[in-house]
Amino acid sequence: MTISTTTPEAEAALHTMLTDVVAGLSQRRKTLPSKYFYDERGSKLFDDICELDEYYVTRTESALMQKQVGDIADVVGPKALLVEYGSGSSSKTRLLLSNLIEPAGYVPIDISGDYLSRVGHSLQAEFPHIEVMPVVADFTESFDVPSPTTKESRRVIYFPGSTIGNFPREDAKGLLAGMAEKAGAEGGVLIGVDLDKDRDVLRAAYNDSAGVTAEFNLNVLKRINDELGGRFDLSKFRHEAVFNDNQSCIEMHLISTERQAVNVCEYSFEFEENETVLTEYSHKYTIGAFGEMANEAGLNVKNVWTDANDMFAVMYLEQA
Ligand code: AVJ
Repeated sequence: MTISTTTPEAEAALHTMLTDVVAGLSQRRKTLPSKYFYDERGSKLFDDICELDEYYVTRTESALMQKQVGDIADVVGPKALLVEYGSGSSSKTRLLLSNLIEPAGYVPIDISGDYLSRVGHSLQAEFPHIEVMPVVADFTESFDVPSPTTKESRRVIYFPGSTIGNFPREDAKGLLAGMAEKAGAEGGVLIGVDLDKDRDVLRAAYNDSAGVTAEFNLNVLKRINDELGGRFDLSKFRHEAVFNDNQSCIEMHLISTERQAVNVCEYSFEFEENETVLTEYSHKYTIGAFGEMANEAGLNVKNVWTDANDMFAVMYLEQA
C-alpha cells in the first residue's frame, strides 16, 4: 500500500478503513460504513446540517433537553460519570454538564482524534471543575472507560442525536447490551431517539434544498480519495435519501451517474449507471418499539421525555 502516516495508530486506522471500504464496495449491493463521514470536514458538515430548516432532529432534541434538563439531572443524580458515545462537537453536552449535580467527570468518546482533543480542551476550559477525559475510540469496538479522580456514584452513558438510528436493529440491540454492561447495575443510559413520523418531513430532512446533506454524503468518497488514494470523481455520483417502509428507516445512497470503474489503491470497482452505494441508515422508532428492543438488550425504560409534537424522544434506561 502506498500510504504514509505519522503514527502506528493512524496507520492501523487507515488499514481498517481500507479493509472496510473494500469489503463494502465488493458486495453485490455496495455499501460504505457511515462512521467514515466524520472526519474533521464531515463533522463540520454535520454541524451545518443541524442548522438547516429541514433537519428538525437536532433542534427538536436540543429544545427538549433545554426544557427537561432539570428533570433529567434529577434522574441521573449526583456525582455521575457521564460517558458520551460519538461526542463530535459535544454541543448537546454543555447543557447537561452545566445542569448535572456535581458530576464526577465527562468522558467524550470519538473516532476523530484531532477534533476530539480540540473539543476536549475547550470543554475543560469551560468546565474547570469537571474532569474531562477524552477517549479516541470507535465506540462499536472495545474500549476502556477511564476512572475519574473523584470516584463516581454511577456511570451514565449518553448517546444523543439518535445516532442509535444509524445501526440496523440487531446491531442497535448489541450496542445497547454493551452500554448496559458498561453502565453496570448502578448506572444508566440516556439516549436520544428520533421517532417515526410523516414521510415527507423525513425525506425533506435528508434531501435538503441547500445540498449540505449531499456534500456530507459525498465527503466519504473525498475521504477515500484523500486518505486511501482513491480515484472517485465526485461529480459522477449524486446523493439521494429514500424512506424504506419495511425497515422504517431513511437510507442514504450515493448513485453513480454513469457506468464507470474506480480505483482505490490496487483495487478496482465497477459501477453500473444508476448503481447505488448505501452509505447510511437512519432508523425511526416508535417509543414502544424502542422499549421492546431495549428490553431485549437487558434494559428497562425508566423515563421518556418527548417534545409537544412527538418528533423526538429522550429516554433513560437502566439494567433490567
Ligand atoms: C447523526 C445519525 C443522527 O441520521 O439523522 C444527518 C446523521 N445523516 N443527515 C441522522 C445524518 C444525514 C444523523 N445522525
